[in-house]
Amino acid sequence: MSEKLWGGRFSQATDKLVEKFNASIDVDKRLYASDITGSIAHLKMMANESIIPEDEAEALIKGLGRVKSKIEKDEILFTDSLEDIHMHVEDALGKESGDLAKKLHTGRSRNDQVALDIRIYLKEETLNIIQMLKNFQKALVAMAGKHLDVVMPGYTHMQRAQPVLFSHHLMAYYEMIKRDVQRFEESLKRVDVMPLGAAALAGTTYPLNREYTRQVLDFGKVSENSIDSVSDRDFVMEFISHASICMIHLSRLSEELILWSSSEFSFITISDAFTTGSSIMPQKKNPDVAELVRGKTGRVVGNLVSILTTMKSLPMAYNKDMQEDKEPLFDTIDTLKICTEVYTRMLPNIEVHTDRMKNACKQGFLNATDFADYLVNRGMAFRQAHSVAGKAVAFALANNKELDELTLDELQSFSDLIEGDIYHFISLDQMISRRISYGGTSFDNVALAVEKAEKELN
Ligand code: ARG
Repeated sequence: MSEKLWGGRFSQATDKLVEKFNASIDVDKRLYASDITGSIAHLKMMANESIIPEDEAEALIKGLGRVKSKIEKDEILFTDSLEDIHMHVEDALGKESGDLAKKLHTGRSRNDQVALDIRIYLKEETLNIIQMLKNFQKALVAMAGKHLDVVMPGYTHMQRAQPVLFSHHLMAYYEMIKRDVQRFEESLKRVDVMPLGAAALAGTTYPLNREYTRQVLDFGKVSENSIDSVSDRDFVMEFISHASICMIHLSRLSEELILWSSSEFSFITISDAFTTGSSIMPQKKNPDVAELVRGKTGRVVGNLVSILTTMKSLPMAYNKDMQEDKEPLFDTIDTLKICTEVYTRMLPNIEVHTDRMKNACKQGFLNATDFADYLVNRGMAFRQAHSVAGKAVAFALANNKELDELTLDELQSFSDLIEGDIYHFISLDQMISRRISYGGTSFDNVALAVEKAEKELN
């Protein structure tokens, strides 16, 4: 007979290569604490329902406590022959509690066990990630607050468009991350479902009290259908999908930080502690952190494709394919956490070159829209004003000047509605101040938005 926990019907030992191939312990060992928590709840419930005697449950719970501390002290050898974390814990419990350990798996399957373990683990990690994203938002808001009135060119098509406040630009990221937090919070509801008791797929003949287990484990709900309980990985797909969107937000910020720190822009300098040098070019200071966050976005999106493809067309109920859920999930958690943390630390270490940003607003006709608005204020229809401003831009371009460098005579040649006050009207300060539409970049609006965000975060 095979010595495996499931070896009763086997007469041949498992091929060594198959043992290695089949094993998931290298990946799922990080579920040990969730696995033990789940087993303790299962034992408490079985004792409460008199499925096993109280004193036996107590002995096994103590044994599981010892298994946990042994794992934490690295005293348990992980081996492919024990396949996964569930069998390692059960085997280690056997060494602590003898034959009694054989009662632990009553009314349970690894199928509902692994579903439970992932849910316990992911609930905790989702809460960690939400907290980390909030810390990142705090760093964004602090940076916006510190540079409240700094003006920079706003871009569309990567061409200078209209001046905006740098703080307003940063607060756009605050909004993106706010939606990420909302998505994670919202999806927690669907992680917070207790699947234990579904057993292999059909439920069990023991009088399990699933509601009791739910309460012990502090889950929001008990899963409704035993087949769905063991085959549902929607919550994994959903988590990685939300994480992908979040990483895409971080990658967009990365791209901007990389551009801004180039000599061409010189809008920011990232401190030495968050940049690296080149092994050949002595002058180099590279924005590696931002590049890596941008690059790691590819990993996380890859993880999403991986889990979606694994789940696609899987028939009911549990299939071993689903063992492949953990690598993309864990890698996504790790990657998102470190990227968020490193950015939270990096933001206060970015020096902002306010003069460069401001000077960049002076070239590229960022005031052309306001020039048109000036004419509209004096009664011209917008489409006509747009055309007049366009002609003025073409003239200025041909003469190598900006609109506010043209003389009043030159300006008046485009429209007799123009008077001397146009220079004030199309000045940088005025352009920002007038953008008072709700959510626009006026000084007052952004100061209020920052204040509101500070309140939201506290
Ligand atoms: N290691 C497995 C997984 O992660 C546990 C469930 C295995 N169930 C089974 N019947 N072989 O999916």
